[in-house]
Amino acid sequence: MLQYVAEVASENVHQYAPGIGNLSLRQEILTHYSHLNYDESQLLVTQGATEALSLVMQYLRYVIHDDFAVMAFDPVYESYKHLPRIFKLPFYAYEKLDFEKEELEQYIQNNKIRVIFINSPGNPFVYVFSEQQMNDLREVCERNDAYLIIDAVYRELWYEEPIYLPEKELSVNVFYVNSFSKMLSITGWRIGYLFCHKKHAEVLRDIHDYIGLCVNAPLQEALSRYLKSESFGKMYVERTRKLLKSSYEQMSNELVNLGYEVPKAYGGYYVWAKLPDKIDGFQFAMNLYEDESVAVIPGMHFSDRANDYLRFNIARPKNEIAKGIEKVVKFSRQYFS
Ligand SMILES: Cc1ncc(COP(=O)(O)O)c(C=O)c1O
Repeated sequence: MLQYVAEVASENVHQYAPGIGNLSLRQEILTHYSHLNYDESQLLVTQGATEALSLVMQYLRYVIHDDFAVMAFDPVYESYKHLPRIFKLPFYAYEKLDFEKEELEQYIQNNKIRVIFINSPGNPFVYVFSEQQMNDLREVCERNDAYLIIDAVYRELWYEEPIYLPEKELSVNVFYVNSFSKMLSITGWRIGYLFCHKKHAEVLRDIHDYIGLCVNAPLQEALSRYLKSESFGKMYVERTRKLLKSSYEQMSNELVNLGYEVPKAYGGYYVWAKLPDKIDGFQFAMNLYEDESVAVIPGMHFSDRANDYLRFNIARPKNEIAKGIEKVVKFSRQYFS
């Protein structure tokens, strides 16, 4: 990929890109999703998934006229609760990942929820929702005039089998957000995209034009050349999947041996682990960082119920993970004794 960055640097690609995205990059994305019957007018290239999520939130704030609230599943990825805070909307963290459809529908109605964020595999807990659950969620949203925002940034990074997302022929109630940040390990490039129903596309493009204008032009061009020559990053993604799965297994086995509880994950970037004996995760994380220079995120960042949880990021090279594990094991043994 870096070879394409060097190649485009000396070419005439240093002015604004089209607001909707570099045309060849758009073509690569549309080809990748050609089995889903999306129309080019439904696609917008954005500054990562983050811009796409906030664009949709701004748009829905603008088009929903009644009071409404936002929901995501607990533990919650930070954008899903901070976006409602910024837009002065109530936020609810739904605590049952293995939800019952009827109970969830009642909860949505009782709390006037009109927007649901969902990620699968998740962050921080790498939970994967089943096909049935995903379809139930979509149905519940459609029946209650609510909107499901699918955040698919980890979808390619599954360990056992591909992830199901209710993305086919996007209904008016479903938005689909993805990005190259995680899939190609380029979080700093800020290139993502959004697919939505045609009904929403024009206003979303309008907001994007006057807030972000366009995504970095040379990097979009470099990415489009890479995707074209590398079958949308197929080999890189396959290697990353294997690496993540093996780091997940290694890290979770070590943690379980130390007394942590590690719920099983089926993909993604993280190990979500419960400390033994209700140890405070924040204090543990601070001390681990001070003593061993290993940074982990305390669970309280994602959930009021997760004071004794930690999130470990395993998206690093093998040797770095091995060194990190060694330090975590040594430090945990001392801390727990
Ligand atoms: C669930 C989830 N969505 C979105 C993002 C941000 O993605 P991007 O870099 O494409 O803005 C992250 C980054 O950690 C994430 O974990």
